[in-house]
Order: sequence, then structure tokens, then C-alpha cells
Amino acid sequence: MSEQVNLFKKAAGEKAVEYIKDGMIIGLGSGSTVYWTLKKLGELVEEGLNVKGIPSSLRTEGWAKEFKIPLTDFSEVQTLDIAIDGADEIDPDFNLTKGGGGSLVREKMVDAHSKKLIIVADESKMVSQLGEFPLPVEVLPFGWEVTAKKIEALGAKPVLREREDSIFISNNGNYILDCHFHTIADPKKLHHELKQMLGVVETGLFIDMTDTIIIAGQNEVKVIDH
Ligand code: A5P
Repeated sequence: MSEQVNLFKKAAGEKAVEYIKDGMIIGLGSGSTVYWTLKKLGELVEEGLNVKGIPSSLRTEGWAKEFKIPLTDFSEVQTLDIAIDGADEIDPDFNLTKGGGGSLVREKMVDAHSKKLIIVADESKMVSQLGEFPLPVEVLPFGWEVTAKKIEALGAKPVLREREDSIFISNNGNYILDCHFHTIADPKKLHHELKQMLGVVETGLFIDMTDTIIIAGQNEVKVIDH
């Protein structure tokens, strides 16, 4: 990642903490942009801000602990006040592709149960149509080959995600298929088609969920409400 892109991510990630108020339960998203949100939030907690977070990945949980952000979980909380998360692609209707880091299921749980979802990203994530970034689909390991064939029939090239020559295992013990569609004309329809497939746990399409995006680029940090 270039130094410039990292600065954009930092600017967007830090801006999001302005939405956090005392007493809030916060969905802690995943990724390198949210890292900056967590770091800044940790500083505010140290100054006395009283909040609790629900992490959307094991990596985020580790960072939250490092920054001493108090944590809770769904055994104590049913609705979160706000979630702040990253994205891999954002279209003009605020539909998202997520899951580049492999935590799409937990991210969707946390984001869907929040009253407000803020997405933080650098400007390269804004696209006119989703699909260039391969769509992550979490699938059961059992029979994943058959599930992949079904997804292929929808016009994609599904690739089983690997890391360091081993199959990538999600935080939930599942596999990820990175599905190369190149263009996704109707994200909502595709999400529903995939969800109906046996073996599919969840898709990385986040439709009609985002309230606000914070986008950082060369000259400014833009806040756009839906
Ligand atoms: C994790 O699975 C993803 O959905 C992340 O939220 C996304 O990849 C964030 O990207 P950045 O690392 O660029 O913030």
C-alpha cells in the first residue's frame, strides 16, 4: 500500500470517531482503514470516553484489546448504536463489496444490527459498478467444490482463497470463494441467488445497509449521507 493511500485511510478512519458519543455500543469493523478508527477511539477511551465495542473479526478484537477499548458481545447486547466499517468497493447507491479480509459474516452481523452504519475508505474504493473486485462468498468446507460449480453457472470464476499455500479458513471455520464476476449489474439479485444456494453461508454484498460514507482523497475528506 502506498504511503499516500495509507494517509487517506488514516484521515477517513479518524474522522469517523466524531460520530461516537459517550455511552454508545459500537460495531468495530475490520480492515486497515478501521485500524485508524480503533487507534483514535482508544485515545478517547483513555481520556474517559465510556463506550463498548463488538469486534467483527479476530484481528479487530486484537487491535481493540491493544488500544484498551472495552468489549462486549451479542450475549449482552442486541442492538448497537453505530458501526464503523471498511469496504472493498462502494457503488453510487452505497452498495458494498466486503470480505477482502475474510470476515464478511461477522461484519454483516455487526453492521446489520447497528442503528447506523458508517463506511470509511480511501477514494479508490468508489466504483461506478461493483464486480471488478472479486466477490468474497463464504461457503461450507463440506462440498465446496459443488457449491463452486453452482456459482460458476451464474457467470463467475470462483477461486478458493489460499494464504501461504494453505486453504484460507474464515473466523467461522469456513472457506472463502473469491468470485470473479468483473461486473455485477444487479447486486441485490445476485446476493439473493447466492444466498439460496446450499453451501453458501454468506456473501460479501452489503445491500441497502450503509447510512454514511467517509471518503478520503487528495484534497479532502468527504462525508456523504445516503
Ligand atoms: C474485511 O473482510 C473487509 O470487508 C474490510 O472491511 C475491507 O477489506 C477494508 O479494506 P481496507 O483494509 O482497505 O480498509
